[in-house]
Amino acid sequence: MTTVPSQCLPETLPHNPLTTVDTWLSEAYALGAQPNPNAMTLATIGQNGQPSARIVLLKELNQAEGSLLFVTNYQSRKGTELVANPRAAVVLHWDVLHRQVRIEGHAVHASSQESDDYFAKRPWQSQIGAWASAQSEPVANRTQLVQQLRAAGKRFNSPPVGPDATASDPPMEHPVPRPPHWGAIRLWIDAVELWVEGDYRIHDRARWSRSLVQHKPTQAFSAGPWHATRLQP
Ligand SMILES: Cc1cc2nc3c(=O)[nH]c(=O)nc-3n(C[C@H](O)[C@H](O)[C@H](O)COP(=O)(O)O)c2cc1C
Repeated sequence: MTTVPSQCLPETLPHNPLTTVDTWLSEAYALGAQPNPNAMTLATIGQNGQPSARIVLLKELNQAEGSLLFVTNYQSRKGTELVANPRAAVVLHWDVLHRQVRIEGHAVHASSQESDDYFAKRPWQSQIGAWASAQSEPVANRTQLVQQLRAAGKRFNSPPVGPDATASDPPMEHPVPRPPHWGAIRLWIDAVELWVEGDYRIHDRARWSRSLVQHKPTQAFSAGPWHATRLQP
């Protein structure tokens, strides 16, 4: 297995922690040691106070404004929880690089245009899947799910979809529209912790935080400067 020596954070901490997150992400891709270096654990909170966590893929990291973006079903458990309580936490972990990133922030639905752009980039089979699956809802059995998939395929005149289908070319004359329940979520970040593994568990940790104010009625955010603090491991 590839092993990479651990490197401490610089003695003078960077002003914007997301520049380091971006570098770490690029290094994780370059190393190629895991299939999804952009996989992150996303934690949300239910109305009863129950936290829940799952993996989603990081699609965009905006260092300048301090936000990240992922895509999902707005009616899923995470989707509905984030509408009721937009506070969320994210963790990225690259084991072979000895690095962890913890992020906290405030989630909002991204613009329709951004969601359309991300939907358009998906393979058409996944686009049909987004229509077919009411993510997080119960389903009687796998057969019913496959039937839902075929029904959604027929609705959009797609070639056969499902486990036995072999078609790989998209039905170009019938592009699949984005379902209203599917889209991008932007997390405006107000706290970041960078963690680097150290010998004998003397890890290197630093936390950055900043204020975030949401302006009504535009819902746009303005952010204060980042403040950095080194933490004991
Ligand atoms: C590697 C990996 C990547 C995933 N990426 C996404 C994603 O980008 N968006 C998403 O909605 N679910 C993704 N999932 C599935 C979620 O982990 C989860 O099962 C699903 O979103 C339902 O979560 P919920 O019921 O808590 O809303 C991914 C799972 C794995 C293991």
